[in-house]
Amino acid sequence: MAQRNVDDPPASLGPYGPGTYHILKYSALALGLAAMMAMTVPTLRADWSPWLATCLWCCFGFFVAELALKLWQGAHTGHVMGYLLSGTGAIDILAIVPVPLALFAGVPPDTAWLFAALWVFKLAAAVPGLSMLGRIVSLEARPLASVFIIFLIILLLAGVALHLLERAAQPDRFGSLPMSLWWAVTTLSTTGYGDAVPETFFGRMVAGAVMVCGLAVFGLLTGILATGFAAEHRRREFIRNWDLVTGVPFLRNLDAPAIIELTRMLRRLDLPERSIVVRRGRPGDCMYFIAHGEVEVKVEPQPVRLGPGSFFGEFALLDGGPRSATVTTTMASTLLVLDVTDFRAFTAHHPALAQAVEMESAKRKTDVKAAPPAQP
Ligand code: CMP
Repeated sequence: MAQRNVDDPPASLGPYGPGTYHILKYSALALGLAAMMAMTVPTLRADWSPWLATCLWCCFGFFVAELALKLWQGAHTGHVMGYLLSGTGAIDILAIVPVPLALFAGVPPDTAWLFAALWVFKLAAAVPGLSMLGRIVSLEARPLASVFIIFLIILLLAGVALHLLERAAQPDRFGSLPMSLWWAVTTLSTTGYGDAVPETFFGRMVAGAVMVCGLAVFGLLTGILATGFAAEHRRREFIRNWDLVTGVPFLRNLDAPAIIELTRMLRRLDLPERSIVVRRGRPGDCMYFIAHGEVEVKVEPQPVRLGPGSFFGEFALLDGGPRSATVTTTMASTLLVLDVTDFRAFTAHHPALAQAVEMESAKRKTDVKAAPPAQP
């Protein structure tokens, strides 16, 4: 059975496709959260309380129906436990249990409905970047932990130093270590509320150093996360490209190290139907492998169609001349682009590929010469 995405709609929606389901779901979410916020504004609550409550109950009903449909669907496919134990299952249950529980326990409605804030987790299930963030945090756990420990060390030392230097001058702000630590947290996190400010000369010197340390710590944190995101993105791209490269028969015969090298060099290009990929007469600095789809090469007397596994754009790389023909996609296509510098570097290590490309190129040129001239 095909694997279902976490944010897939219940299959039992029938003719109401995923588009309608997502519109309904996110509308209910936005409406519910807006009503929950309005409930906390005394003037709005006084005037609109019944309407806001109706709105909240409608959204709640929608989420209950969604859970029921998913459970019903799980019962049919035998995946009820899998769904309930998944992140999406937990989020769906968390969306409907706390509010009635709180109301049942006698919590006033305007407080009980604050649990509707948990509905916002439904957004998390729909954002693939969050799972990526989770993976990055687990992969970069060691450097992140190191930065966190550096943060704690500076925090404690700064708190103690300011307590020592300022307690006499400002006992109400730095009289105890927890008070000084509060100042250290706001300064080190570069928030600086300004509610506690050192007055002594040495206190200010330490404060300056703590501010610089705060910038350094957050710079480190940003650097680790940004590098992690870039590495994870490259890794995902690599896996996607690997599948495409090994799907091209022309490249499949290469050995594993060569495929790895080529996969790193190739860039994926997704194009809609009737896109011009190369234009006759223009200079060419890359060649293309067709992973999916089809292109048409406008040559005389008959245009030539190239399908998955073929390549084009090699003439310009081999002879350094302009593009010999215009190439257009005939359907939505996925191409793999190899830049001229990468082509040269790769063929220097793997002359067999260069020979194969040259042979095909020579055959194409002969075909064009051998073809009878076009009819007027
Ligand atoms: P290039 O000249 O760089 O750009 C246009 C491309 O069309 C060309 O490289 C070839 O890859 C391709 N091409 C030209 N003629 C033919 C042909 N007869 N058959 C298939 N492909 C061709």
